[in-house]
Amino acid sequence: MTTCEYRPGLEGIPATQSSISYVDGQNGLLEYRGIRIEELAAQSNFLETAYLLIWGGLPTQQELTTFEHEVQYHRRLKYRIRDMMKCFPESGHPMDALQACAAALGLFHSRRELEDPSYVQDAVVRIIAKIPTMVAAFALMRKGNDPVQPRDDLGYAANFLYMLNEKVPDPLAARIFDVCLVLHAEHTINASTFSAMVTASTLTDPYAVVASAVGTLAGPLHGGANEEVIAMLKEIGSVENVRPYVEDRMAKRAKIMGFGHRVYKVKDPRAAILQRLAEQLFDKMGRDAYYDIALELELVVEEKLGHKGVYPNVDFYSGLLYRKLGIPTDLFTPIFAIARGAGWLAHWKEQIGENRIFRPTQIYTGPHDQPYAHVDDRLHLWENSGKRTSDLALTESSRIA
Ligand code: ACO
Repeated sequence: MTTCEYRPGLEGIPATQSSISYVDGQNGLLEYRGIRIEELAAQSNFLETAYLLIWGGLPTQQELTTFEHEVQYHRRLKYRIRDMMKCFPESGHPMDALQACAAALGLFHSRRELEDPSYVQDAVVRIIAKIPTMVAAFALMRKGNDPVQPRDDLGYAANFLYMLNEKVPDPLAARIFDVCLVLHAEHTINASTFSAMVTASTLTDPYAVVASAVGTLAGPLHGGANEEVIAMLKEIGSVENVRPYVEDRMAKRAKIMGFGHRVYKVKDPRAAILQRLAEQLFDKMGRDAYYDIALELELVVEEKLGHKGVYPNVDFYSGLLYRKLGIPTDLFTPIFAIARGAGWLAHWKEQIGENRIFRPTQIYTGPHDQPYAHVDDRLHLWENSGKRTSDLALTESSRIA
């Protein structure tokens, strides 16, 4: 085997072959199973798109109806999971609550028969069905309220908004939220999907796979940028402040949140769709200062940074939409997880279909042939050799903790 160059973050190194989604960043193209995201956003819905991603093709009417009914049937949470959630600290982050609940689901379904198609189907249905209920339940329980039971007469997106806000949403709001889920459902081998695939490759259960992916999505470098967009718009405060804000960030060589992408060097196609949805939602529900600031910000950033390929990414408009739908900011990433669950499960299924455990190599940079010193002699040896660095030592506070 030839030695490879080390690339931090595995940038540009293919880690798998996949037929699930495709991105062309130069031309702003995103496809799920070969179908353009614009078509899916306009004509499909989240459950049909999840079926497409996971089973590899669009369902017949009967297959779709069966899938919808099964998801609807499994939406409720076991009372023991609700009891477990009552013990969670109300100040805890909803992503941590979701990760714990996803892992706990595995306790109730410990049979692991990955070769059995009915096991795979049951797990897919249960996870897609229960993630929104877990997110909504924690959002209410942390305020001391009882969770709202799902309603069978409501679709996937409308039911989530109902469980969260305790009222049936406006049909436009439900449709827009559903499209947001479609747009976030899959995006090739990003960090959380890679994490799901590595976990899947050990042939553990799918609940552990999803719990691991949720933990990875929770980090601010991955799932959290849309929260930061809202904080930035608040900081800018008015349309007049947009240009000075951009100039100041550029002078400091600081990033403007919600802009730029490692892969897309033109406008992210998902941002373009979300922008049109935002226009519809703000027209119907009333414009606010945040929206006007966002429009001006896009113009100024394009003028100043467009030549570097810096355009709005998916996070720029999604935060604005969620805020307008009355969703608390710290639920933006859990909502991302509701959608991305479909992509994680598609990659889980693809991984176990042709599995080889992930076991990359490393380039060792440490010493060799070190002597073992008895604990009584170590301080003396280290003082003489000057080899011990202070960051190896436990601090007093970490020992007490
Ligand atoms: N604001 C200002 N300048 C930017 C921005 C930005 N948001 N993004 C890129 N640039 C500039 C860089 O400073 C760099 O300029 P230079 O060539 O003069 O040094 C040039 O554009 C190229 O940018 P890179 O940093 O090399 O792009 P990279 O691919 O490494 O980074 C990233 C992509 C991390 C997304 C970056 O654009 C960024 O931090 N954006 C803000 C955070 C954000 O919105 N993240 C969400 C991404 S989408 C998602 O994860 C779902």
